[in-house]
Amino acid sequence: MLLSPQAERNWEDLCAVLEDVLEEQSHRQLFALELGSGTGQHVIRFAQKMPFVTWQPSDITQESLDSIKAYVAATHAKTVLPPVHLDASEPWEKWADLSRSSCDVIVAINLLQYSSFKTAQGFFTGAGQILKQNGLLITHGVYAINGTITPSCNESLDAEIRKMNPEWGLPDIDVLRQLAYGNGMRLERMIEMEDYFKCLIFRKL
Ligand SMILES: C[S@@+](CC[C@H](N)C(=O)[O-])C[C@H]1O[C@@H](n2cnc3c(N)ncnc32)[C@H](O)[C@@H]1O
Repeated sequence: MLLSPQAERNWEDLCAVLEDVLEEQSHRQLFALELGSGTGQHVIRFAQKMPFVTWQPSDITQESLDSIKAYVAATHAKTVLPPVHLDASEPWEKWADLSRSSCDVIVAINLLQYSSFKTAQGFFTGAGQILKQNGLLITHGVYAINGTITPSCNESLDAEIRKMNPEWGLPDIDVLRQLAYGNGMRLERMIEMEDYFKCLIFRKL
């Protein structure tokens, strides 16, 4: 079981956001896909707090898939499906056999700042296809706004991430909004989290 100290710190706030956003639909069973699930720490907490959601975790690395499996087994989470390999940069037809309009919710936590523009394009194209009408896409991360990164600690974070891979870096909210719009989704809400993180809530039109 991998352990992310950041996931241990932010899972409670993320649960609160998801519970708030999904509350109006909590009378029915929802299907949620998580992209870039990482360790699996988030999805098992989400499952504990929101039993009305069936969760499909995913990632691109075997290490993550093994860790998610271990968390699910250790917590006996009944509403979490076995994790699947899913690369958000791939065409949606390769997204683990998920069919068009099959998801009520898609969640991606700290994925886009560690992604190239091509991956972000794949991410929004895929989400636009597999979300149901009125479905929600929720991204959590640190963002640039209209080409500007503030405060200076976020500039340093951006530089650090770009050092890992020059194609990565803090994505611009306006660029994401346009990618979403081009794929049939509207940026509906921005929720401020701790340490300049934000949750962006997109709705499929
Ligand atoms: C920074 S980690 C975040 C993990 C977890 N969501 C969290 O917040 O603890 C980014 C995750 O995205 C995964 N990832 C990277 N590129 C991806 C891609 N193209 N498609 C799907 N997942 C990807 C990585 O393997 C990693 O687990």
